[in-house]
Amino acid sequence: MKVATHQLRCTECGARIAGGAVNSIFRCPICNGLYDVIYPWSTLPDSDTPASDSNLPNVSALRWLWQERRTSTMPIDQSGVWRFRDLLPIVDDLDHVVTLREGNTPLYDLPRASKALGLDWILAKHQGMNPTGSFKDTGMTAALSVARERGFEWVACASTGNTSAAMAAYAARADLRSIVFIPEGKIAWGKLSQSMDYGALTVQLRTDFDGCVRVLTELVSRFPIYLLNSVNPYRLEGQKTPAFELLEQLEWQVPEHIIVPGGNLANGSALAKGFSEMQHLGLIPRIPKVSIIQAEGANPLYRSLQENGGEELIPVKANTRATAIRIGNPASWRKALRALRTTGGWCEQVSEQEIALAKAEIGFEGIGCEPASAVTLAGLKKLVAQGKIGSEERVVLILTGHTLKDSNYTIDYHRGELFTEAEDAEISSDDQVLHTALRKPPIVLEPDTDTVFRELESKMKLIHA
Ligand code: F0G
Repeated sequence: MKVATHQLRCTECGARIAGGAVNSIFRCPICNGLYDVIYPWSTLPDSDTPASDSNLPNVSALRWLWQERRTSTMPIDQSGVWRFRDLLPIVDDLDHVVTLREGNTPLYDLPRASKALGLDWILAKHQGMNPTGSFKDTGMTAALSVARERGFEWVACASTGNTSAAMAAYAARADLRSIVFIPEGKIAWGKLSQSMDYGALTVQLRTDFDGCVRVLTELVSRFPIYLLNSVNPYRLEGQKTPAFELLEQLEWQVPEHIIVPGGNLANGSALAKGFSEMQHLGLIPRIPKVSIIQAEGANPLYRSLQENGGEELIPVKANTRATAIRIGNPASWRKALRALRTTGGWCEQVSEQEIALAKAEIGFEGIGCEPASAVTLAGLKKLVAQGKIGSEERVVLILTGHTLKDSNYTIDYHRGELFTEAEDAEISSDDQVLHTALRKPPIVLEPDTDTVFRELESKMKLIHA
């Protein structure tokens, strides 16, 4: 079945090209800008594309169709990405779709965090519940399907871990070969183990993420290898679909705020595109504010906004324990800026201590997430303290990665071994109380019933009759 009806449009100079005409680095040859995927029916905030929905069912029919597909046994219907394929016509032949039934992720409430912050409700859309444990799967199913359709045998990415795990899994499913560049010693072991398990050629480079990107760019320029970093706009088409799924889960009631972590700075813009398309098609009457939170040690967008209003990116030498977002020279910073401006969201930065506390709090809600995802709650606290988010406003945190991705971080935190003494000294006394209450280090005991009971009694404050 022929379904693809898209073009690529440069986000800088507006030049349009056919999808198949794009170069190997996904950059506009005129101005080096990144591309957006556009459709006859879609419009982007600064686009002059006229709206036309002639090829689409009406809004009620679309909603009905998306629900109906949930009951189907077809893999593309069971995918929480391809279920929305009417707004994702990027492959000519749906037989080329590579899916692990991604998406369909839960939306949880965070009652303790809501109470502590005095907000009516905070929800968490847990993208870490995807097949490889991160939101990258929603983008990888889309871009890997395009790679397969275009006949590539090899795919590659540079990664702080999650992209490589997702790419390796989807490449394996598609019977393609994959090459991963990761910064040596600077990604969580869980993620590295995944790309090996899924059969990728895994290359650890003695550099940071930004150094890996430089080598990768050269590689794909010289060899017929399909680039799967988030400069590839098809990735972002998949990553916009959680916005559709979220609104469906909320019965099409639009929340006021969406908060995402910022690393290479693509995901916030992908979600914002999803919201804008829904608004344009009349699925929702307005869009939520999309805010982006960076770690203090990897804060190029935050710094640039503070120092030059976002005119120029100020790259930084990135350093944070939230390794997934340890990126100093993010490729998609202009797209992120556009997302902030079109939705009215903010960019904030949070410290290592704030990230760890937020992560422990999300864990204590029975949910858990990886450190990079916890910046969302830490950032929310700041936005509330600054009066930018009111008590009656509804907030959705996008938790991007699974808690088991970085178990070393979690163990170090609970054992009280995560921070240096200097970092520990910076924590306010109020937050120290919270840390102490949340830390649950394991207790090592001899297997003697009396000893165990005595210890439990003291911990549980049991009173025997
Ligand atoms: N959260 C997690 C868990 C991530 O892995 C990433 C990015 C982000 C947030 C940031 O998203 O880059 O779109 O701003 N990880 C990449 C990787 C870069 O290689 O896995 P972004």
